[in-house]
Amino acid sequence: MKKTIGGLSVLLEGNQKNRAIIFLHGFPYDHTMWKAQIAAFSEAYYCVAYDIRGLGDSSVGDGQFTMELFVDDLEMMLHELKIEKPIICAFSMGGYIALRALERMEKKFSAVILCDTLSNADDNETKINRSDSIKRINAQGLSSFSKIFVARCFSDAYKKEHKDAIEKRIAKSRKFNSIGIKGGLLAMLTRNDTTPYLSSIKLPTLVLCGEHDTITPPIRVKAMAEQIPEASFVLIKNAGHMSVIENPEDCNEAIRIFLENN
Ligand code: MLT
Repeated sequence: MKKTIGGLSVLLEGNQKNRAIIFLHGFPYDHTMWKAQIAAFSEAYYCVAYDIRGLGDSSVGDGQFTMELFVDDLEMMLHELKIEKPIICAFSMGGYIALRALERMEKKFSAVILCDTLSNADDNETKINRSDSIKRINAQGLSSFSKIFVARCFSDAYKKEHKDAIEKRIAKSRKFNSIGIKGGLLAMLTRNDTTPYLSSIKLPTLVLCGEHDTITPPIRVKAMAEQIPEASFVLIKNAGHMSVIENPEDCNEAIRIFLENN
């Protein structure tokens, strides 16, 4: 079932009496990136996957987004849906939101799954690259930005074997509102570093990363996981940054084992 809550487009799958999993997608994607996970977990869990503000079918507004606003949206969603102590399952930019949400209100969650994400803020080079992207989108629209950005996210092997799927992802991202895309870039480039908070996370945590991820490389993601007291790290074979799409079987197996034990 789909609903709009506070301007956000939300997919709700499964029985709401079950323990809830909130899925937070990456950039520049929408909730559909969690298709394989929702299919696997909606029988036993209440799966809530919404489009982050500015992306997918969610409202774009003025595009003046910050990570704090994205966390406010998550808090609003929990409140409106009356969900208590969900598991949060977050990918890349969704992970930036999740880590800041935990820093602000850890007690509202019961477990954390972080996929291909990092706690640090952007370094100077990344900030300049994001600013250049905004300039390029203003000059040329989303066409080349979406193509380059989406292609970078997938491993070479996946790109070779799934040309149509990649083209579809690029086409979808090109249809997003450029104000929302630029807002996402601004929110990422102005976000806080949540690294100092990692050592105080008390929740059971699973950290996944694709072995060929070049955006959030496994060596750095593993180092982040090592700073979280109750975290386990799983390297996902045959996958780049988009591990949950490229190798859903191994990701889902790691998530299933984690959830059974937590
Ligand atoms: C994402 O997958 O959400 C983005 O690649 C994150 C980023 O650009 O930092």
